[in-house]
Formats: sequence, structure tokens, C-alpha cells
Amino acid sequence: MESEKQPLLEAQQLRKVFGGLVAVDDVSVEIQRHTLHSIIGPNGAGKTTLFNMISGVMRPTRGHVIFKGQEITHLPTHQIAHLGIGRSFQITNIFPTLSVLESMRLSAQAMGKDNFRLFQDVDHFKRYLNQAEEIIDLVGLHGKEDASAASLSHGEKRKLEIGIMLASSPELLLLDEPTAGMSSEQVPDLLEIIRKIREMGNKTIVLVEHRMDMVMSISDRITVMHLGNVLAEGNPKEIANTQSVQDAYLGALYGELTEKSEA
Ligand SMILES: Nc1ncnc2c1ncn2[C@@H]1O[C@H](COP(=O)(O)OP(=O)(O)O)[C@@H](O)[C@H]1O
Ligand SMILES: [Mg+2]
Repeated sequence: MESEKQPLLEAQQLRKVFGGLVAVDDVSVEIQRHTLHSIIGPNGAGKTTLFNMISGVMRPTRGHVIFKGQEITHLPTHQIAHLGIGRSFQITNIFPTLSVLESMRLSAQAMGKDNFRLFQDVDHFKRYLNQAEEIIDLVGLHGKEDASAASLSHGEKRKLEIGIMLASSPELLLLDEPTAGMSSEQVPDLLEIIRKIREMGNKTIVLVEHRMDMVMSISDRITVMHLGNVLAEGNPKEIANTQSVQDAYLGALYGELTEKSEA
């Protein structure tokens, strides 16, 4: 049964073994509604595998995924998407010739209940168009409506992918390293977009990101993974001050973190 107090998403003892490698080792994590929950950890920690199991891309070796009180562990990806879990893939590579506006409108329509009667009702059509235009503004692609996905810069493609995901109206957004491949100058823009989505107030975001300053400034809660396990969980301040996190991960890779959190 669904209730407001219950976590939006629960991973229960999720495990994924590849051959002899335990990529995710009985990980349990709860994502509360309307929060931004980051998952951090060095390369190979199991973050993407965890996302793959939540979104149905991979079957867990064992364990459960519960979304809004419903077990979704063995559902196919499209059903999980329809239930309200959005995952950004590099969709811009799949439909390179679609324009920015068309991509967003199609994504909105595909998730709408009336997608088999597209042109029957002009109001519906207009609603999807309005929704697409709002999202184009939100992700900062105003002026690029007619540009093809393929013609966009790398940073703009990442924005379009977030827009396409938003257009499908997910309750939960899984963002796996959205700033990957971006130059430092492009990062603040993307951070701002994620902030705005968070401020909409009706979305829940799980963010995998290695830019620590970003994670620390934007997260309500942080889970630290290391070698397939959960090493620590807490709010940004607690995580910054956790010795085991610093030793195993942050200390070595992000030496500047402690200075920043004390400033
Ligand atoms: N499809 C796969 N087949 C075999 N091993 C995999 C596969 N996907 C991931 N792995 C391994 O699982 C571990 C966790 O990977 P991953 O979830 O991608 O970590 P992260 O996203 O935290 O960098 C790594 O050791 C990786 O090499
Ligand atoms: Mg990864």
C-alpha cells in the first residue's frame, strides 16, 4: 500500500554478481519523497549497476526494488518507466534528426494516456506542446527548439536528455553523472537545472555525480558506496565529517573537500 510517509523507493538487500565479481553487495537504501539523494563513490563502486537494477535494465542476483510500496524488481524497463521512474540515457544518439521541440513533445506524448489518439483532440496536442515549451525553458534550450539533436553541443545534448526525461513526467529521476564529459564552465548551468527541478517540489532525484562541490551543495542526503557496499549515509555535513569516508574515498580523491566544508 502506498502512503506519504513511506519512502518513494526502497532498494532491499540488492545484490549483483558478474561472474566472480560482486558488483553490488546486498545494498539497502531508502529514497525519501521530494529529496535529492546523491550516491557517490569511486569508479567501480557499483553505482551504475545499482541504477541498472532499479530501472529494470539489469536483473538483480537477489534482493528487491520497491517503488511506492509496489515490488518492481522483475518488471520490464518500459513498465518501470510508466510507473514514474525516469532514467536518462543518451537518447540524443537514438533520434539524432528530431528537433529539440519534437523530442520533448514525443516524450510527453509517449507517456500520456491518450497516445493512441494523438490528433483526435487538439487540446491534448496543445497541452503536450505547452509542456514541451516549459521544459525547454527550464533546461535552458530556448532558441534551440528547431535544432536537431545531432547539431547540439555536448553540453546542450545533456540538457536535452534531462528535458526528454522530464517531459515524460517521472516522479523519480535517476541521473547518472549528468556532467560527464562537460567542461567546468558548463557545470554551473547543469547544477542550476537540477536545482530548479528540485525546487519544483514534486520530484525526487537520485544523483550519481563525482563533482563533490556540486554534490555537497545540492544534496539532502548522500550515500557513499565503495566496492559494492554502502560505506556511509548521511547529510552532506555528516558525510564530509565521516572519517571512514575520508580515509576510503574522499581523502585520497578529493583532498580539498575538508577545507571546503570547514570554510
Ligand atoms: N555488464 C557487466 N559485466 C561485468 N562486470 C560489470 C558489468 N557492469 C559493471 N561491471 C563491474 O561491476 C563493478 C561496478 O561497476 P559500476 O556499477 O559501473 O560502478 P560505478 O558506476 O560505481 O563506477 C565494476 O567492477 C565493473 O567493472
Ligand atoms: Mg557509473
